Amino acid sequence: MTRRAAYANPLRDPQDRRLPQIAGPCGVVLFGVTGDLARRKLIPAIYDLANRGLLPPGFAMVGFARHDFGDSNFAEFAREAARAGARTAWRESVWKQLYSGVRFVEGSFDDDEAWERLTATLAELDASQGTQGNHAFYLSIPPSLFGTVVGKLKQHGLASAGAVNPEAWRRVVIEKPFGHDLESAQELNAIVGEVFAPGSVFRIDHYLGKETVQNILAFRFANNMFEPVWNSNYVDHVQITMAEDIGIGSRAGYYDGIGAARDVIQNHLLQLMALIAMEEPVSFDAKSLRIEKQKILANARPPERIDLHTAHAQYTEGWAGGEPVDGYLQEDGIPADSTTETYAAMRIDIGTRRWANVPFYLRVGKRLGRRVTEVAVVFKRAPHQPFSRDDTEALGQNALVMRIQPDEGVTLRFGAKVPGTVMEIRDVNMDFAYGGTFVESSPEAYERLILDVLLGDPPLFPRHEEVEMSWQILDPIIKHWERQKSIDTYGAGTWGPASADEMIARDGRRWRRP
Ligand code: BG6
Repeated sequence: MTRRAAYANPLRDPQDRRLPQIAGPCGVVLFGVTGDLARRKLIPAIYDLANRGLLPPGFAMVGFARHDFGDSNFAEFAREAARAGARTAWRESVWKQLYSGVRFVEGSFDDDEAWERLTATLAELDASQGTQGNHAFYLSIPPSLFGTVVGKLKQHGLASAGAVNPEAWRRVVIEKPFGHDLESAQELNAIVGEVFAPGSVFRIDHYLGKETVQNILAFRFANNMFEPVWNSNYVDHVQITMAEDIGIGSRAGYYDGIGAARDVIQNHLLQLMALIAMEEPVSFDAKSLRIEKQKILANARPPERIDLHTAHAQYTEGWAGGEPVDGYLQEDGIPADSTTETYAAMRIDIGTRRWANVPFYLRVGKRLGRRVTEVAVVFKRAPHQPFSRDDTEALGQNALVMRIQPDEGVTLRFGAKVPGTVMEIRDVNMDFAYGGTFVESSPEAYERLILDVLLGDPPLFPRHEEVEMSWQILDPIIKHWERQKSIDTYGAGTWGPASADEMIARDGRRWRRP
């Protein structure tokens, strides 16, 4: 492990109490800079990193888009975006420091003159800001444009920095979706792989940048008391839930035809499942983590009876936050006959000794009862109860719930005797809440991930093998759904379709109500 890698991610070196490493001289080029993601997340994250003192003085941020900005207008747009989205306090002096390295290049992705302007801009920044030829290219653009952009980076000599400084690095950052099935993911990987070496490609799964997701590793591997019960002897099943109360908002163009499974199960939920299920890596460097995650993904199987062990549905009109809301088909930009799912649930089995006969139930949905992401490890009942059935009427199964968001923490549910003269046992909760325990605030996932890109620190970024394995799990399920002509529905504000309840009830279980 290099010193730099150990330094950047404290999880890999629990003794290392020092502050996170500061990125060296470098710049970020944001393609698709006027889009929603850049405005809401990327630009604010860059400001927050600067405000926390984690960016070098010689830092540059270049926007590239087909938009009529002059330098100053773009800077104003970026300032507004940073101000609106920043997690840390606004400090004009920090912005002024960033501002000196802010540039904008106007043009379309197939316009060679624009690429020449970009090349000249980077050379100018190397000289004026001291970025030393180190640049990350952030592709916050539809995947259909990846080929063009990556090809132009190569054509214009931007994909490697040899001529500028043989020591300098060039990296490419890719946002999901990484394809829409296995075949398209392989094509995409081939396009990117032709130009950039695997170590220079950073695929963003922003869930892996979340504090509580990283805590899964700390929880499982820094403690001794959970490991003995973390297997099929004790665990009955695992439920992974990602519920959102929002609808699709203004994202019809992206979402329709993609749907809930491709949008978040292929990446966020299967990554969560891999972290919960994997064996302990020999260390926390990128390679060791990847090896263990891949073993899980390679052995995870879609259900044999997809019709009985999956559910998918679309929201109809209903309620959100006390307000009436439209159904999916009434949202702007959605065709009236769309069969895209906004809810997906499925049973996945992992063919290893540790997880034999322990189903992992995954469910995601838009416009559900409330926003919550959690992992619930539900334990088997005690094999023998010396109490009468009446005594234990209110006793459920023991469960360990990792609350990923928004109420971050961990809950342990177990039975306790109700105070009184009779033996009555009821479920109680023992709770750890981040808010009540730590004074340190969690950085936004994108902050951590952008910093890791600039440091060249890859453990939090899925490699193409993981992406392809995830598609292998999902492809048969999505294909099965696509063969059906109609789609189930659920009212906005509810907890999903009856078919999802029936699906899990077939196994004698029920969904937790988070
Ligand atoms: C994105 C999905 O990856 O994650 C969105 O494309 C979803 O559909 C979002 O809303 C949720 O992210 P978070 O961090 O709010 O859970």
